[in-house]
Amino acid sequence: MGCEIIDGSRIAGKILAEAKRQVEGFSPKPCLAILLVGDNPASVLYTNKKIEDCAKVGILSRVARLPASSSKDRILGELKKLNEDGSVDAILVQLPLPASIDEEEILGAISPEKDVDGFHPQNFGQAALGIGQLLPCTPAGVVRLLKESGISLAGKHAVVVGRSRIVGKPLAFLLLNESCTVTICHSKTRDLPSHTKRADIICVAVGKPKTLTADMVKKGAVVVDIGINREGEKLVGDVDFGPVSKKASLITPVPGGVGPMTRAMLIQNTIKCYLMRRR
Ligand code: GUN
Repeated sequence: MGCEIIDGSRIAGKILAEAKRQVEGFSPKPCLAILLVGDNPASVLYTNKKIEDCAKVGILSRVARLPASSSKDRILGELKKLNEDGSVDAILVQLPLPASIDEEEILGAISPEKDVDGFHPQNFGQAALGIGQLLPCTPAGVVRLLKESGISLAGKHAVVVGRSRIVGKPLAFLLLNESCTVTICHSKTRDLPSHTKRADIICVAVGKPKTLTADMVKKGAVVVDIGINREGEKLVGDVDFGPVSKKASLITPVPGGVGPMTRAMLIQNTIKCYLMRRR
């Protein structure tokens, strides 16, 4: 049996087309504000992509840029303005923030109903409880990708490799809420292959190429690659794609897998913020 490559770009395209139709009926248009601190090239690139996506579906966007040397109070002051600005529906603080800034304090200062990333502790807690409206975009994108690919989740053993604040940890909760049996592995996990080899679904979000190799995968497993790593000009994920695809039944590519789904979920969450504020 061959391995199917999950086309995240196609599924995301479908979601964005639906969002565009929905936004056509809205007046005023939804508005996403992005707070970008510093000039990390990857963050600037991601911010530009998000603005392009907004424009494609008719969502307004604006970027508040602050220098990397900004104090915590300056960032909190900018956030307060965005929280109080009635024309802003959704707020995204582009991560990472400069190392001197306490990320948790900044994320906790975003108004929960405008927290388009679902990173505020209130939204994170609700997502973990399975009662969340604003789910973090990458984890929500992974679950949607699996469902759209016809994979039933209940009872499956899902192994999440990585426990980051924005991907691994929330993804583990979303999969648990879909009734998966979830194992979370991380940098201190002993004998990682002993866990991944038992998995029906493996989600890798570590940020290191070839974290998952073919010998670590059960035949027929579903493999979701959430890593984005630069190797010269090339983008690669965390999965050793060629050899792993010979053992997996389904696999997501990098690029064109989870990335476009994350962006589509951001658009969906912006619309959710807009509608929640008008209920
Ligand atoms: N930096 C890398 N990924 C993300 C994300 O999903 N949201 C935000 N705000 N920043 C990021």
